[in-house]
Amino acid sequence: MYPIAIVRIVLVCALGATLAACADDPSAPSYVLRSDDRPGQPIGQLTEAQQLQFDRGDGVFSQVFREQQGLGPLFVRPACANCHEGDGKGPGIVRRMALVEADGFTPARDQSPLRFGSMVREQFVTPATQGWVPFEGNSALRVSQRFGPAVFARGWMEAVDAREIERVAAEQAASGGAVHGRVARLAEGRIGRFGLKATVATLLDFTANAFQGDMGLTSPMRPMELANPDGLTDDAHPGVDLTMEQVEDTAAYVRTLAAPVRTGLDPRGAALFARVGCASCHTPSMATTADFPLRAMANTRAEVFTDLLLHDMGEGLADGVTDGPAGPRDWRTAPLVGVRFLRNFLHDGRVRTLDAAIRAHRSNGSEASPSVDAYTALSAADQTLLLDYVRAL
Ligand code: HEC
Ligand code: HEC
Repeated sequence: MYPIAIVRIVLVCALGATLAACADDPSAPSYVLRSDDRPGQPIGQLTEAQQLQFDRGDGVFSQVFREQQGLGPLFVRPACANCHEGDGKGPGIVRRMALVEADGFTPARDQSPLRFGSMVREQFVTPATQGWVPFEGNSALRVSQRFGPAVFARGWMEAVDAREIERVAAEQAASGGAVHGRVARLAEGRIGRFGLKATVATLLDFTANAFQGDMGLTSPMRPMELANPDGLTDDAHPGVDLTMEQVEDTAAYVRTLAAPVRTGLDPRGAALFARVGCASCHTPSMATTADFPLRAMANTRAEVFTDLLLHDMGEGLADGVTDGPAGPRDWRTAPLVGVRFLRNFLHDGRVRTLDAAIRAHRSNGSEASPSVDAYTALSAADQTLLLDYVRAL
């Protein structure tokens, strides 16, 4: 939904400058919305039943859960929308811990001192007496943060044909260049597509995980509270906290969120995007499966600007965390669809301009370094064309 913050930021922009100038400033929060172009809308062609489910899921997504409804015992934030405001990125974050070697990103062999997992879950409700926080004074502990990414257009990512992901990976390998993404093959055999390190195959699984891990809300899919320092197995709401319908509705809401409208793309920008190699990883479109349950997304192309593959992004972007199929320097190519709605860029939100985001792709060992070099070698005018193109995606 459209939180109050949008209105506030628009007002701040309007006070400081004209709205147009504000929108053109890449360092300004990009939450300047046109009335015909805002996240939070469903895709077209929904049946009445699907529209009703979208509306119910929308309600759960923005609901602030309370203790009596099963929040906790430990949690990070009480609402999905806290970390995906306006279906966009942040402001809520998740902090992750890793025990690392002296280089700061190679994971130490023994992670067992992180007894309750690598996720910082600082907040707690009774009967818990403590959260799970980084232990201080341990020089081997690296704490990093991840912004909740945008959730719009994720249905399109789910619709992408698994064979298409494998095909693109094979194509990158065959090209013999620096870019060689890896399919995020999960232990169960499916391909991971969701999460910044592609750890989860479906939106339903991701939603159930988010309820459990970020909010301490158990469901028929994830009936156990996660381990915590008090050893609690339940909270103020006895038993499983959510119904299967609530989890399904929330996942369906995310699945049917439309991709932001895209207009006026300059073909010169598109050509530069391909020429400097952005398009190798940020694949403009991917073929979808013929049997995807939502007709509008089946047997067509998903214009998500990601290959859904894991890439070695080098030491500069490493966080020391091993997550399922992904190593401490690996990240799934970030989908650039709707990038103009993001408040900051990269997994930890370290930069606020597209130019800085591109330059941060370059570091020791990064598959993207040659692409950054090609970008910085462009004339200033061509760089602007490229950035304008990315901003319009
Ligand atoms: C405390 C903040 C927080 C809360 C609360 C939260 N998320 Fe997230 N969300 C994140 C972060 C951080 C990630 C990236 C996770 C990762 O890869 O480690 C994420 C990732 C996602 C993704 C994957 C997007 C992608 O690009 O792959 C989906 C879908 C999602 N969240 C949905 C939800 C839903 C639904 C809820 C509520 C049930 C929720 N989130 C609650 C922070 C949050
Ligand atoms: C080797 C693959 C690769 C290449 C080449 C590449 N990127 Fe990326 N890009 C990624 C990955 C992976 C991320 C996520 C990194 C992170 O979050 O730390 C990313 C993140 C981004 C982001 C931030 C998006 C967000 O959600 O915060 C932008 C913007 C971006 N890339 C633009 C570009 C542009 C423009 C180019 C060409 C100059 C380019 N990238 C080349 C893989 C690549």
